[in-house]
Amino acid sequence: MSTKFSIRTLLRGAGILLAGLVLVFLIGRWGVMVYGSFYSGPRAPYLQLPSPTSMTLHWQTTATEQGELRLGTAPDQWTLRVPETSASKQHGITATGLTPATRYYYAVGTAQQIEYGGDNDHFFETPPLQGSDTALRAVVLGDPGYASEGQAKLRDQIQHWLDQHPRPNRNAFDFLLATGDQAYTSGSNPQYQQNFFIPYTKWLAQVPIWPTYGNHDARRFAYFKIFDLPEHGESGGVASGSENYYSFDTGALHVVVLDTQDSSMNRFGSMHHWLQRDLAANTQPWLIAVLHHPPYTKGSHDSDRWRDSIGRLTEAREHLLPLLEQYAVDLVLSGHSHMYERSMLIDCHYGKSDSLQPDMIVAKKPASDYIKTGPLHAPHQGTVYAVVGSSAKVDNGPLNHPVMAVSRHEMGALLLDINGMRLEGKFMNPQGEITDQFSIRKDPAQPAMVRNECLARIK
Ligand SMILES: [Fe+2]
Repeated sequence: MSTKFSIRTLLRGAGILLAGLVLVFLIGRWGVMVYGSFYSGPRAPYLQLPSPTSMTLHWQTTATEQGELRLGTAPDQWTLRVPETSASKQHGITATGLTPATRYYYAVGTAQQIEYGGDNDHFFETPPLQGSDTALRAVVLGDPGYASEGQAKLRDQIQHWLDQHPRPNRNAFDFLLATGDQAYTSGSNPQYQQNFFIPYTKWLAQVPIWPTYGNHDARRFAYFKIFDLPEHGESGGVASGSENYYSFDTGALHVVVLDTQDSSMNRFGSMHHWLQRDLAANTQPWLIAVLHHPPYTKGSHDSDRWRDSIGRLTEAREHLLPLLEQYAVDLVLSGHSHMYERSMLIDCHYGKSDSLQPDMIVAKKPASDYIKTGPLHAPHQGTVYAVVGSSAKVDNGPLNHPVMAVSRHEMGALLLDINGMRLEGKFMNPQGEITDQFSIRKDPAQPAMVRNECLARIK
């Protein structure tokens, strides 16, 4: 009787102790996540939620104050002043009723004083109307959140190239895309300031930033405090109802930015449901998808290893790619693997690298100028997959994935141009050299390729 009692008491005590330890761990972890999500210093203005007729400005001040946004067609000629409705240190003001594809100079501060802007460096351009064939240019940064010498050199070389290749009467480029992990190592708000906002201050003041939720961003709540993302369809596309994943339109381009970190990727999950509805509603000629975890890589991560990143690379490939390819995605961008890998035009490859079959390579050789024929949204006509994960640092890996036409162990970023029926990508390193260049051209007048062999395999 007494032995039984002792064992039961011991077990109960151990259970209570274990539960207590788990509780302390969870509270501690929660506290760290909350604590690192705040930043009390100043933050220069950055652009969010663009639409052809509206733009949202965010900035941060050390004092609580009622902000005001001034807009005009010249740096000192304000035609619109938008006050905040309440005082805060974290400011966000949306200007509405704007003209599409138009440059606006701006200043932010209070009704009494300008704190940022009112000069030639603070302006934005509203996006062109949805469906217009206005040429687009974007800079894609991969895992950029590490304030390194290479990061600064690369930024400066991109700026130099943009200066050397100006677009008449247009901003140097239209938007920034980041493939996730925007702030190492923990995605904290101070790390965002040090590793992302300070290095890219000038760009962030002039073009909208579209971020992707990466595993390092998921270590704090700062990502969601900082970014104001179009969960209600503010920038085009179907409302996702979540800031983890979203879509937007600009000109002839539709972009879906997906969450491969915390959201379920399978067909029963809400992200998959939304993605199907969003892609079905898309009428834009060009479609780009962005996801942090790469479906194909042999870089510092390995898409053949199920255990890599708790299976997120494999799940992205198996669950998201069939849907994206069904809806004719042209380019899939990812990060996470800290190097550059760019595929041939491929389709229907949802297994490990050793399951690649010849008919999955739509362009039969590792060319760099690909042609997609058939109606604009004909399914399974081929996709280029690019891992852009080395805009701030580069790691090691075998770089031998068979779908890749180009694999490079170097830092860099991708410059994207869309002009009519042609998309062009250029990978630039910190020396200013373009070490990869590819293009996709659409020719709707030609019949679509018959892909029966490939499609039969995936049914
Ligand atoms: Fe990552």
